[in-house]
Amino acid sequence: MDFNLKNIPSQKGRIAIVTGANNGIGFETTLAMAAYGFKVIMACRNLVKAEKAKFDILQKQPNADLDILQLDLSNLESVRVFAKNFKIKYSQLDVLINNAGVLIYSGKKNNAGVELQFATNHLGHFLLTNLLLELIPDRPESRIVALSSLAHKDAKIFFDDLNCEKTDDSGAAYGQSKLANLMFADILNRRLKKAGKKIVAVAVHPGGSDSGLFDEMSKATYYTFKILSPFILHSNTSAAKPSLFAALSPDVKGGEYFGPQGFKEFKGKVGIAKRSDYSKREDVAAKLWQLSEEMTNESFLS
Ligand SMILES: NC(=O)c1ccc[n+]([C@@H]2O[C@H](COP(=O)([O-])OP(=O)(O)OC[C@H]3O[C@@H](n4cnc5c(N)ncnc54)[C@H](OP(=O)(O)O)[C@@H]3O)[C@@H](O)[C@H]2O)c1
Repeated sequence: MDFNLKNIPSQKGRIAIVTGANNGIGFETTLAMAAYGFKVIMACRNLVKAEKAKFDILQKQPNADLDILQLDLSNLESVRVFAKNFKIKYSQLDVLINNAGVLIYSGKKNNAGVELQFATNHLGHFLLTNLLLELIPDRPESRIVALSSLAHKDAKIFFDDLNCEKTDDSGAAYGQSKLANLMFADILNRRLKKAGKKIVAVAVHPGGSDSGLFDEMSKATYYTFKILSPFILHSNTSAAKPSLFAALSPDVKGGEYFGPQGFKEFKGKVGIAKRSDYSKREDVAAKLWQLSEEMTNESFLS
């Protein structure tokens, strides 16, 4: 099922948003999408970093059609402003790649007191998708792509401790947020189909790549990671392939979960990824959806 990057027809005239487009996998995803002819809106929280990334992409791809719009996913008001600004400039959105993410161990919260990874990785993207859905044409080429992670496998949603304050597992909150990404893509796809829509929602994980994601690790873990990563992980360019496959392949029908097929799914050709039994639970996904509606104060395909 490997994705042949060479056989993609020109996507000129189509519009994509990539969140977290300025770094790591998002940067490589944006570069590739622009090379295919998409106009790519780089949804970034830091405009200086975004301008630098745009400059770097234009060095590699001088014809890239790029726009930058500010978005801080950890702040629901910023998500609303982004959606409003996007709608002022554009009347259509063909592909939404919900790529941005944070991995932290500090227990930080956003301005509303919500644990920062759940707020950024899940809630911000939940609201963003909700607010932009009306612009997405009803056809199977229209894609909403969620970036999950291998970390979803040991995770659960702590409905009675969403900020993960009662657990001593420092990775629980990241795992929870990435599980939420996967479960949101699934239930979104089911609800789109139930509403008679052809838009495809799909989840991927990138395997492992040495991006900016791990910058907040403890120093010892970080240096071990830096030494080992060239041997066990792949490049950000390769890590972007599952997202590109999900965004572009006609084989994608919706509700799947794609990722690399190599050793421990760290790298390799794109195919169907392994997922936990918990992630398949429709009752949990429905509860997560309802909670997300309450927390964003916005109802959605219900
Ligand atoms: N790399 C891996 O091994 C790996 C494995 C599994 C899953 N993933 C997932 O892949 C996705 C991309 O991560 P990456 O590895 O490319 O990490 P990265 O290099 O750290 O890039 C993350 C991007 O998200 C942006 N971002 C963070 N917080 C944001 C916010 N509040 N609002 C808007 N944008 C925000 C970052 O912006 P700044 O530059 O301003 O921080 C950056 O552009 C994430 O969802 C991550 O969970 C990565």
